[in-house]
Amino acid sequence: MANAMLQKAKIAQQDEYYTQYVDIQTEINAYLEYDPNTFKGKTVLLPCDDPEWSNFTRFFAENYSALGLKKLISTSYAPDTKREKYGVLFDWAARDIDKSRGRIFVLDRDVTGDGRINFDDIEWQYLDGDGDFRSEEVRKLRDESDIIVTNPPFSLFREYFAWLIESGKHFVYICNKNCVTYKEVFPYIKTNKVWLGATPQSRDLIFRIPKETAKRFLADELAMKGSKYKIVNGEVFGRSAAVWMTNIEHGRHHNPLQLMTIADNRKYSRHKEVRGVGYRKYVNYDAIDVPFTDAIPSDYDGVMGVPISFLDKYCPEQFEIIGIGLELADMKPIKARLGKLDGGPRLYTEQDGELVRQYERILIRRRK
Ligand SMILES: C[S@@+](CC[C@H](N)C(=O)[O-])C[C@H]1O[C@@H](n2cnc3c(N)ncnc32)[C@H](O)[C@@H]1O
Repeated sequence: MANAMLQKAKIAQQDEYYTQYVDIQTEINAYLEYDPNTFKGKTVLLPCDDPEWSNFTRFFAENYSALGLKKLISTSYAPDTKREKYGVLFDWAARDIDKSRGRIFVLDRDVTGDGRINFDDIEWQYLDGDGDFRSEEVRKLRDESDIIVTNPPFSLFREYFAWLIESGKHFVYICNKNCVTYKEVFPYIKTNKVWLGATPQSRDLIFRIPKETAKRFLADELAMKGSKYKIVNGEVFGRSAAVWMTNIEHGRHHNPLQLMTIADNRKYSRHKEVRGVGYRKYVNYDAIDVPFTDAIPSDYDGVMGVPISFLDKYCPEQFEIIGIGLELADMKPIKARLGKLDGGPRLYTEQDGELVRQYERILIRRRK
């Protein structure tokens, strides 16, 4: 019980992780490199934002003309609603606003009359409610927009994803790496309706965090030292195994991986688990285990289980996704041998007579 509460608190604290400008810039630039007109004439909605502070708003406002935007809309969640639950990042108390209400910020014209449309031209007003993305008024804004971009609250990720899909719009969002395995999400990845953004999974995304969270991290109440936070120039940043996801083309997922044959992997693989060993079959699914993406053999026609990080390199013209261990693993032979089940469905190999539980795997097959 205590564990479940701690887990909930850990997830909730990530609701207040704020994205760095450079990370937004890197991701969005990749779409522009692929197609400079990606945002041209479009209305962009940034829900779950704090427009006065958010780097999402700053980035899109500062690049309003360069992107050719028609309109930028950001909405913010009422500070009071946040504070009660998770603590604050900014000094809201000092601000003369009604903190029980959400706000809407719009940029679509040159208000200052300086001949440019930028951050200084943003106009704002209160929303009727607290700015919850699920509210009728924010839903309406969603339906008016063309592209929806944000780092949503992690604890509401499933709801946010359903809300995006329901909209039928284009989108870019940040989420925890594990979210790709959710049963609500994975079918969209499998059928190439949603894919990883351009930023590699290996990039260490760090986020600005409320002071309370930073204090807790430093006191090591909730943090595993080092892995949950990073100190940069004296500021404590939250660390999260986060990835960008999208349904907008950025071109990078159409580059096929250059791979070696089974025989060459056995001889030359840089991984000791593969070199001189080859590939093990799963005990509970008809496929071989490939523990590293760069060890995928080029000449195997059957099904292969690969780590989640494969999605970074996934080229739908090269491979077909069959499913995920979570949904495909047959746990009967495991239960029969171990007499118990350890956690959820997982793929197992056998090594020296012992069953070895693998990390989550995606099952793929080479396209011919
Ligand atoms: C992970 S933070 C990201 C903030 C900002 N988009 C960024 O990346 O810098 C998520 C934001 O959503 C807000 N939020 C939490 N629950 C929300 C809800 N139900 N509707 C809208 N926003 C919400 C949080 O208070 C927080 O400001």
